[in-house]
Amino acid sequence: MSTTTVAIASDHAGYPLKETLKAELRRLGVDVLDLGTDGLESVDYPDFADKLAHVVKDGKAGRGVLVCGTGIGIAIAANRHRHLRAAVCHDATSTRLARQHNDANVLAVGGRLVGEETAKECLRVFLETPFEGGRHARRIGKMG
Ligand code: RB5
Repeated sequence: MSTTTVAIASDHAGYPLKETLKAELRRLGVDVLDLGTDGLESVDYPDFADKLAHVVKDGKAGRGVLVCGTGIGIAIAANRHRHLRAAVCHDATSTRLARQHNDANVLAVGGRLVGEETAKECLRVFLETPFEGGRHARRIGKMG
């Protein structure tokens, strides 16, 4: 079981930003499990959300980062898995609240919408911000 390893995956539209975020994770000293895709050839984002769901379920990663063109499709696919709470985030504030209130265990980012520096900031906030618990835990419990 690895709670510290972060799994990362994308489709073709998210591939360039996935590579940037993978490098940022490594720079921060975080163990990374890269599940692809590995280039710009067109692929289907649900396949990569499913791969990430499996490694989190197996305990090979504690959290995940998903990237597609908008972050939306790959988050919808991820949220079909009941053990994932994927949040589409566009900035530090949405990311902070996704952690504090929603205990998001997957950060979803739009590679065609969010700039590199903003996405890296989202990633750092995602890693650093604790869940607030309390009333938010009760609400999350109703989704389990
Ligand atoms: C791929 O063209 C694009 O549709 C996909 O990356 C994503 O944005 C879907 O939500």
